Amino acid sequence: MTLASWKGGVGKSTLAVHLAGCLARRDKRVVLLDEDERVGSGARWASRGETLGFEVLRPEDVKPKKLRNVDFVVIDTPGRGGLRKLRETLKRTDVLLVPTGPWVTELDATRSMVEALRPHAEFEKVSCVIARAPAVGGAGKRARDALSREGVSVASTIIRAYNAYLTAAERGCLACDVRGGASAWSDVSALTSELFSA
Ligand SMILES: Nc1ncnc2c1ncn2[C@@H]1O[C@H](COP(=O)(O)OP(=O)(O)O)[C@@H](O)[C@H]1O
Ligand SMILES: [Mg+2]
Repeated sequence: MTLASWKGGVGKSTLAVHLAGCLARRDKRVVLLDEDERVGSGARWASRGETLGFEVLRPEDVKPKKLRNVDFVVIDTPGRGGLRKLRETLKRTDVLLVPTGPWVTELDATRSMVEALRPHAEFEKVSCVIARAPAVGGAGKRARDALSREGVSVASTIIRAYNAYLTAAERGCLACDVRGGASAWSDVSALTSELFSA
């Protein structure tokens, strides 16, 4: 699975780390490939300390041996690159997951990316997920249902906004290891089950 978006700060790296972490806690062998050379969130996250349960690789570290016997590869990408780059990415992945905030400016950025891909065969690999939605109120559900009505594949699970993700990033752990992180982790668990049938 590859996480991508044309907008930065939508939660790609946070989700990449947590989806990989959740799969690892379900005894799956997972590698997180951190392709964001500039920010390197996943690599930094792992370097902060606590056990994540999966290996984080940079592109230069990828060797066939490292990927042998792996159940899932989660790829975190930088929030840039045009249509051509995106289509290349789609060719080498099973699912392209596009996190998007629930507000109109964020949804419009997501729509322009998804619509650019719609004419191409790889479109069927694209799925959106509403992320950083307020934990109270219906903005997340409204955004999800709007995308769905437009014929965009969108996860039924909504990733709500919780401070546990920020604490987890600070400590280099997962939200489930943070006090008060249970709600965040329940979203991650639901999304993992939905996306990977794992
Ligand atoms: N579900 C969430 N709830 C609260 N904060 C979040 C959530 N997802 C991401 N963040 C925060 O938003 C910021 C951007 O997230 P990040 O995962 O780095 O996005 P991207 O990789 O798309 O640029 C970070 O400070 C991160 O801690
Ligand atoms: Mg990132």
